Amino acid sequence: MAKWLDNAIFYEIYPQSFCDSNGDGIGDIQGIISKLDYIQELGCNAIWLNPCFVSPFGDAGYDVADYYTVAPRYGTNEDIKRLFAELHKRDMHILLDLVPGHTSVQHEWFKESMKAERNEFTDRYVWTDGIWEEPQGMSSIKGFCDREACCAVNFFSIQPALNYGFYKPEKPWQMSMDDEAPKATLEAMMDVMRFWLKMGCDGFRVDMAHSLVKNDEDGKGNIILWNKVRDFLDKEFPEAAMVSEWGEPDKSLQAGFHMDFLLHFGPSHYNDLFRCDEPFFSKRGKGSAKEFVKKYNENYAKSGGKGLICIPSGNHDMYRLAKWFDTDELKMCFAFLLSMSGAPFIYYGDEIGMRYVEGLTSVEGGFERTGSRSPMQWDGSVNAGFSAARADRLYIKMDPDEDRPTVEKQTKDDNSLLSEIKRIIAVRKKHKALQSKGKLEFVYAEDYPLAYIRSCEGEKILVVINPSDKECSFELDARAEESIYRLGKGVTVGSGKVTALPQSAEFIKIG
Ligand code: GLC
Ligand code: CA
Repeated sequence: MAKWLDNAIFYEIYPQSFCDSNGDGIGDIQGIISKLDYIQELGCNAIWLNPCFVSPFGDAGYDVADYYTVAPRYGTNEDIKRLFAELHKRDMHILLDLVPGHTSVQHEWFKESMKAERNEFTDRYVWTDGIWEEPQGMSSIKGFCDREACCAVNFFSIQPALNYGFYKPEKPWQMSMDDEAPKATLEAMMDVMRFWLKMGCDGFRVDMAHSLVKNDEDGKGNIILWNKVRDFLDKEFPEAAMVSEWGEPDKSLQAGFHMDFLLHFGPSHYNDLFRCDEPFFSKRGKGSAKEFVKKYNENYAKSGGKGLICIPSGNHDMYRLAKWFDTDELKMCFAFLLSMSGAPFIYYGDEIGMRYVEGLTSVEGGFERTGSRSPMQWDGSVNAGFSAARADRLYIKMDPDEDRPTVEKQTKDDNSLLSEIKRIIAVRKKHKALQSKGKLEFVYAEDYPLAYIRSCEGEKILVVINPSDKECSFELDARAEESIYRLGKGVTVGSGKVTALPQSAEFIKIG
């Protein structure tokens, strides 16, 4: 298994909006290479790169038209090979984004599949038997080609569903997972993985991993499918890391993924902490982490140490954290995110508290997600240092706020969010107990504060986080040995009680 995951701290890069090296208004691979030192200084040692393959970009690249070629707007396959080498030189790693569930309507496979005459790709996608027969429970497209059938789509109408079979086929057109065509689809996808892994990529973040096999309520079919991928990787690329967009770690980890994300959808109660009317991390102190912790504990127990649960700061699909929180509250969020088990994921720009930009017109299928995808704010120069292009040529408009945060400003300011995050990451890196695999035990999650013990090889660290503006306490028998990190006025431990001052967090070694 990929040993590097034990201490991985990820940085998610949305390539469109990170750094534009040639002034055409859109980010590119050369731009990413030029910022690797920055990412490393932040303390991150791994990258998740959103899709960077040839695509008509109807869903920002999640509609792949050629799995084997880097989109020209980002560079070439040679460029990405260089990115891999530059990362490895720094002892860093990278996950590419694999979109196995669907392609673009412009993919060659789909062009063949649309034809009325049978051919090798006729059954590569999920088609019904007739133009008037809709696939139940799925959206579909019809009437756009000679083939007399409806094709199921997974997300937007431009993303036809690849055929991995149905767990419980019910109609004549629904194939079983063991039929030839679904098996060929999986082989084709494993070929794609093989291609990039051979070139030097370190693994994949897998898009909508829970949804390849259809009619699969409990995920059993998808678990079988991904275990086939697990066997292939164990044999050919045992070091490859696999992270799923699934949102149900009890299933995905059984499916052979090393890690799964908690997401803004699904049963995790992740939103209770960050994205709701009264999030737990607000200083109003009216939120609750109780349900989140309950669910987390369930998943943690079910995963039985088999894999990791990742709690991202955000991603390209969610509103930015800063929509809810000010800088002090964001520091609390990161004290939590960076001291939990599983690998942390920082969405580009969250480390400086980039805002969700309101009122933008959708770009490339972003819709309300567009405001979370605005260009990275580097410095005080033109377009915040993102691009030398004319402002009206930028891929997405910049945050127009004159006071927008930048890396430059926050690097100079010891009190900034960026400086705080660097400090927390440095502490995490020094203590194995705080890293991905350190044991986690929640000791208080009733109301405020939130407290848990991380432990590994005899070291025990009590983490207490009180985002609220009130002092609060709970009972715990522990002996404080040494404080290793403090935010705000801090926490006291003694006489069977832990007391957290308002807006404070502390990591304390205990005996
Ligand atoms: C995932 C991606 C999202 C995309 C969708 C369809 O949820 O994160 O951006 O639109 O899948 O591929
Ligand atoms: Ca560019």
